[in-house]
Amino acid sequence: MGWNSWNRFGPFLSERLVLETANAMVESGMRDAGYRYVVIDDAWEDSVRDDSGDLTENRWQFPHGMAWLGEEIHRRGLKFGLYTDAGTRTCQGYPASLGNETRDAKRFASWGVDFMKVDWCHTEGLRGRATYPKWTDAIRATGRPMVLSICEWSRDKPWEWAGPVGHMWRTTGDIADTWSSVVTIADKNAELHPHAGPDHWNDPDMLEVGNGGMTDDEYRAHLSLWAVMAAPLIAGNDLRAMSHETRAILTAPEVIAIDQDVLGRQGRRIRRDEATEVWVRELAHGARAVLLLDRGESSTRVGVTFAEIGLGTKSASVRDLWERADIGVRTLGVDATVRPHSAILLKVSPG
Ligand code: GLA
Repeated sequence: MGWNSWNRFGPFLSERLVLETANAMVESGMRDAGYRYVVIDDAWEDSVRDDSGDLTENRWQFPHGMAWLGEEIHRRGLKFGLYTDAGTRTCQGYPASLGNETRDAKRFASWGVDFMKVDWCHTEGLRGRATYPKWTDAIRATGRPMVLSICEWSRDKPWEWAGPVGHMWRTTGDIADTWSSVVTIADKNAELHPHAGPDHWNDPDMLEVGNGGMTDDEYRAHLSLWAVMAAPLIAGNDLRAMSHETRAILTAPEVIAIDQDVLGRQGRRIRRDEATEVWVRELAHGARAVLLLDRGESSTRVGVTFAEIGLGTKSASVRDLWERADIGVRTLGVDATVRPHSAILLKVSPG
């Protein structure tokens, strides 16, 4: 869990933005809710490597340099993430890492980086399955543990090979701040549930919660889907200027607990009707997270039986995780009315 600059700020980066974001992460309660990585995405780089051949930061935007910034991030109890690209240029046209994997991983490690996002622009003729293992080796050679975030947009079916190579891999193209983007990504990522598990996750891309293009109901549904899909939760909004509601959505403790459940199973969609869906995620200790989703334009009653969600018992206790309220003991199943473009997230515990 963390924050990444791209969705909200694109290439408009500065040291000040990163420091203010790190401060906001602490003060807003995001850090204590579990968000730890502060990830600087593309466009932090200078337009050329330095004289010794190392990647170097744009000193106008980052006057104290990346090592200093890494220390400031660490001082706040946070972790430091940084972006590069596996090809000849980054997506924004800056120097990238092809042929310099060992050197660049070492440079990142010397700056105290804890998380590397490695993108896939300008990689003509390369294959993900041959390229990313070089990054695994390069990171290992630094002696510093760093998360490897593989970002090749599912070009080379990373779920087939990336488990032992990196910690997370993008399964789709870039997210947009729209409802159709969220549900389209969910459709694609849903199918990949067998491949995810502890330390090797499907990554349906960073969150758009709080960026203004969707309603709060839609943002709650977005986060609910990501939680049920055991997705990395990387906030992508302006943490310095969040509404009360955005902060409440991003830090909802019982929703985050589903995302972070220690069993590490990605949930599945078990039913798809015209406009509604039922998703289930198996949790540690036998409970289930159940997501009732309405993708349509009117409120709909959605129900599910306990047998359908794999519970052997007749009765179970049900809790609404957004409302943080017990619904009570139910027999045979549970149902609820779901508003259009929204989701209800339940925890169903047998016995
Ligand atoms: C690609 C990635 C995005 C972001 C941009 C930066 O599009 O998929 O997540 O990193 O590049 O240029």
